[in-house]
Amino acid sequence: MSALIDLASVSKNYGTGAAVVRALREVSLQIDHGDFVALVGQSGSGKSTMMNIIGCLDRPSGGRYKLEGIDVTERSNDARAIVRNRLIGFVFQGFNLLARTTALENVELPLVYRGVSGRERRARALRALESVGLASRLHHTPNQLSGGQQQRVAIARALVTDPPLLLADEPTGNLDTRTSLEVLDLLQGLNQRGITIVLVTHEHDIAACAKRVVTMRDGRVQSDVRNESPTNAGEALAALPPVEGS
Ligand SMILES: Nc1ncnc2c1ncn2[C@@H]1O[C@H](COP(=O)(O)OP(=O)(O)OP(=O)(O)O)[C@@H](O)[C@H]1O
Ligand SMILES: [Mg+2]
Repeated sequence: MSALIDLASVSKNYGTGAAVVRALREVSLQIDHGDFVALVGQSGSGKSTMMNIIGCLDRPSGGRYKLEGIDVTERSNDARAIVRNRLIGFVFQGFNLLARTTALENVELPLVYRGVSGRERRARALRALESVGLASRLHHTPNQLSGGQQQRVAIARALVTDPPLLLADEPTGNLDTRTSLEVLDLLQGLNQRGITIVLVTHEHDIAACAKRVVTMRDGRVQSDVRNESPTNAGEALAALPPVEGS
């Protein structure tokens, strides 16, 4: 089977002339179905640029990008949006949930855009929230939820359309160690169910939970290492000292 993600000599330049920033320099990278990749590297090394291209949010300046065998390099914005909506779920650092809107409604939103009927929307959002362990928080708004719970709502929202690929740019950037591990435990469970995950992180502990670590430097892949024994986030959680008062 061909790779899910296939970047061939992909470049991305911002600006032109003397002011050009070469954010990606002929990056070639394949990611197979079922992999769990951590993308790491210094600030400015090109991680988000790469995620934007993988996520069909932006187009390469050079090279070729195939997603699930579909060459999306030259596609129009609309055509890329169709591919994106079918294949990709996104999770961001800041959760990007709608305030004053319940968890259930937030998770239903991507289905509203697709014209799914109200009854089916509700059923699928419920299932997605159950799968992230939030069945008891359906009618809470984001400000009534902890940071980790908000991120789980965001993950449920990304999954409600059943995409084969989940892209997460610093999903634990705003979370403490314990909550980060809870999110990683959830992501590892999703990966075990076959969802391919690409995650950007600055944290070594988080990258250690991935099956493969790709390190970026100055717009290039500096190293690409398979992790033979990823940290099991659930076990790491259990090994943390107990929370005070619980
Ligand atoms: N829209 C843009 N216009 C101009 N330059 C940009 C733009 N977006 C990113 N850059 C530049 O491209 C380079 C790569 O940026 P990118 O956001 O991919 O880095 P990053 O690895 O995600 O960094 P961080 O860890 O800080 O999020 C940086 O030098 C950045 O300044
Ligand atoms: Mg970034």
